[in-house]
Amino acid sequence: MTPQDQKKRKTAEAAIEYIKDARVIGVGTGSTVNHFIDCLIDFKIDIEGAVSSSEGTTQRLKEAGIPVLDLNDVDEIRVYIDGADEVDPHKQLIKGGGGALTREKIIADACRQFVCIVDESKMVETLGAFPLPIEVIPMSRSYVARQVMSRFGGQPEWRENFITDNGNQIIDIHNLDITDPIALEKAINDIPGVITVGLFAIKPADIILIASDDEIKVM
Ligand code: 5RP
Repeated sequence: MTPQDQKKRKTAEAAIEYIKDARVIGVGTGSTVNHFIDCLIDFKIDIEGAVSSSEGTTQRLKEAGIPVLDLNDVDEIRVYIDGADEVDPHKQLIKGGGGALTREKIIADACRQFVCIVDESKMVETLGAFPLPIEVIPMSRSYVARQVMSRFGGQPEWRENFITDNGNQIIDIHNLDITDPIALEKAINDIPGVITVGLFAIKPADIILIASDDEIKVM
């Protein structure tokens, strides 16, 4: 395991404490979450099931023998565990590097508690060094890119040869200086054709577990 992978595993292990009393959990997407799914097996966690944020996570959960539940059949997601691409001091996030941002945002909104698991490399003072993903209806891709560029700046890049689990496309906006994440999240979500922007600022994470070489910091 690389040193970064070791940190991902450590933050994933720390998240186990937060799901102890949960019957139903939400499970995000990405390499850090994959460690968390491994921990569910290693710690023999007994849950009723999990609501999954992507086809990739669904497959891994099924391989681990964990029932995957449809959000429509679930009254409450006690806790949602997911990673992030960037985290600021207000627990606001950029997500969607893996392209699962829309389902991730639905679960983050539906859950009682969102616990975000990251290694220290994800911590930033201001969001925006990581390209901001936007899931769009395919026919709106160029229009949305032009709108974003003219209104907010940045350089949009089409994530070519990538189709989301919802059958849509992604544009990544490079070089944005995100000084007001809540306003930007609202404004981008209002552009016709946008499904979701990967800013999690209106509803940030509740808890961030940050792994460094020698400790887990809880924020
Ligand atoms: C997927 C995501 C992931 O949470 C994010 O990309 C972090 O991934 P990783 O844990 O592999 O660094 O938002 O859409």
